[in-house]
Amino acid sequence: MIRNVLRMGDPRLLARSQPVEAFGTRELHELLDDMRETMSHLNGAGLAAPQIGVLLRVVIFGVSANPRYPDAEEVPDTVLINPVLEPIGDAMEESWEGCLSVPGLRGLVPRHARVRYRGFDAFGTPIDRTVEGFHARVVQHECDHLDGILYPMRIRDFSSFGFTDVLFPDGRVDPED
Ligand code: NI
Repeated sequence: MIRNVLRMGDPRLLARSQPVEAFGTRELHELLDDMRETMSHLNGAGLAAPQIGVLLRVVIFGVSANPRYPDAEEVPDTVLINPVLEPIGDAMEESWEGCLSVPGLRGLVPRHARVRYRGFDAFGTPIDRTVEGFHARVVQHECDHLDGILYPMRIRDFSSFGFTDVLFPDGRVDPED
């Protein structure tokens, strides 16, 4: 079922979400089905459970080759539950982000260039990946949602925050997450 995505201002987006305690359950699979349907309906790059009002530490993300976003790096379709993020090295990178909970806006956000992330899939199978670039950015953005952090809170320079169609009048931007 396509769910309503909460928008910035809703206090549930500022809450700290709780860990999932049981894997492979019908409830968890139903939540993931709803998240996937909602994300693909909105052409998102990622979605966190609290964005549909479910305060559990569950995120999904994935970007496949898309002619609308010729410059977007591909990111494998991933279900990540109870994630733990660890920066690798000190390098930071700034790039544009959007968010389905902050529709129509983009901002330049600093993120760790490389991260290791661990967690579990829907069945409780461990995931352990070290990634960089856009993949690392998407994971950091989604995991922030689990701690009640929205990307505008990470912006350092508010001269690089604005409406997508004003910032990018030629329309070539990455999807929101
Ligand atoms: Ni988001």
